[in-house]
Amino acid sequence: MSDKPMIYYPLSVLMLAGIREVLVISTPIDLPHFQRLLGDGSHLGLSIDYAEQSEPGGIAQAFTIGADHIGTDSAALVLGDNIFHGHDFSQVLEDNARDVQGCVLFGYAVRDPERYGVGEADERGRLISIEEKPARPRSNRAITGLYFYDNDVIDIAKNLQPSARGELEITDVNRVYLERGKAKLVDLGRGFAWLDTGTPESLLQAGQYVQTLEERQGVRIACLEEVALRMGFIDAEACYRLGAEIPKSDYGRYVMSIAGAA
Ligand code: G1P
Repeated sequence: MSDKPMIYYPLSVLMLAGIREVLVISTPIDLPHFQRLLGDGSHLGLSIDYAEQSEPGGIAQAFTIGADHIGTDSAALVLGDNIFHGHDFSQVLEDNARDVQGCVLFGYAVRDPERYGVGEADERGRLISIEEKPARPRSNRAITGLYFYDNDVIDIAKNLQPSARGELEITDVNRVYLERGKAKLVDLGRGFAWLDTGTPESLLQAGQYVQTLEERQGVRIACLEEVALRMGFIDAEACYRLGAEIPKSDYGRYVMSIAGAA
């Protein structure tokens, strides 16, 4: 998307949260493409595994498919069509995503909340209601596609009943945490950009947003090599080598320049 594959955007979010073990879940047709693109992730200081979701069984199925991968750890989930961008986002992640007890969700005010999961929080940031695509939303706060959970999420997903459309809904997982009084909703604020790319219009808008910022500032959003370098997952030399593999592209030259400046 714009100057890089779409998956770079959500993957960069996980990396900024300090996550280095990643499971990419996709359809049997798409999965090999991701595998060819990202390999085992070691060039970025990551460990990337792959798993198929053979039928569209819902987002929460990620936790039954990924149960072994998660083991006894906590887990984060990010949707492949979501873009997050904003000043100090890594600080927001650090403040909210470490030592998660229960779940942490991120809310963002939108004009058309009925397209999304919609949540409400009390003054302490505790989630007090959540609905999936409600005809009459109780707030304008969309629940974005970035979720942090403690290990209970595996059991919760395993015991979930499919919704009317036959899917394991992530909103139903979040409702279980709400009922346990263990769901937090963090507001991303109006200075922040949360974009999804699930429709042609939204994909175009997201491309324009990324292009505008990158052209204006000369920095790249979600450049994985840069994120890996800044997070200390790889050193400057390794970063430079990655850029030097594609020296004729602006992207490759950018990666080399970032490494040179480090
Ligand atoms: C999914 C979730 C929804 C969330 C949205 C974010 O919806 O079910 O709760 O707000 O992602 O992108 P979908 O895009 O699958 O319709």
